[in-house]
Amino acid sequence: MDEQKKQFDFGENWDEFSRKALNPERVRQARDDFSKLLEGTELQGRSFVDIGFGQGLSLLAATASGAFTVGCDINPKCKEVLDANRRCFPEAEAACIPVITGSILDDAVLNNIRATVPGGQFDIVHSWGVLHHTGNMKKAIVNAASLVKPGGRFVLAIYNRHWTSPVWFIIKWFYNMMPKFVRKIMILIFYPVIWLAKYAVTKDDPKKQARGMDFYYNVIDWVGGYPYEYASLDKIEKMLAGLGFAPVKKIPAQVPTGCNEFVFEKL
Ligand SMILES: C[S@@+](CC[C@H](N)C(=O)[O-])C[C@H]1O[C@@H](n2cnc3c(N)ncnc32)[C@H](O)[C@@H]1O
Repeated sequence: MDEQKKQFDFGENWDEFSRKALNPERVRQARDDFSKLLEGTELQGRSFVDIGFGQGLSLLAATASGAFTVGCDINPKCKEVLDANRRCFPEAEAACIPVITGSILDDAVLNNIRATVPGGQFDIVHSWGVLHHTGNMKKAIVNAASLVKPGGRFVLAIYNRHWTSPVWFIIKWFYNMMPKFVRKIMILIFYPVIWLAKYAVTKDDPKKQARGMDFYYNVIDWVGGYPYEYASLDKIEKMLAGLGFAPVKKIPAQVPTGCNEFVFEKL
């Protein structure tokens, strides 16, 4: 089986999530959580690129906040989903958002992203839950970081390292090797398992999700999201320090295998 076939189809999951689960309350939550993460980072009139925009909620929230936005995603379905979700953001519905379909690992894609702004770098590079799914997280971080202007911000979320992370790697790899009916059975099995594990850690209703997400579609993403890498908070901070970035904000994952969120500033 080739590498392309082993990659989880995020576009299909975002399409179904957007058609069946996205509602005004989730859009409001996505906008609020995006604003909280970006608090202290000016968006009005600034250039903003979203690497791996997925369903487009952050990209559209940034557009609605007055940023000049550009999107990149490897999965061509994500552009269709983004266009459909514009209806949820009246301020951004008719905005011009250049979209580049391709991998952040690809030099030609990087050059196409650079060509969308004068000087080839952005005030804000945003990549939430993406760079660990590229197949080469280190190169993806280096490439995304190269798009940040001096004095600009790099907003990212990366899966935390935990003793169960290698187990998750095997689960995700296995899921993507299986035919559709086995994948469906795996979701049926993992849904209650993840529900119980999340309840045990948070003591809160596991169906409550952040960022406008939905528990069922998140389970599919968690079980299927391959390629998969992970890193500790320290490792990401050290790596970004080595690339000339200072930490501005870090929000540790709510559950041990969740995503740590970071905001860095390029010195
Ligand atoms: C877990 S989703 C995150 C979506 C969105 N950023 C969010 O915050 O909900 C990961 C996204 O990264 C995209 N992706 C995976 N590998 C990529 C790559 N090499 N280059 C660009 N996008 C990639 C996937 O297609 C998917 O839409």
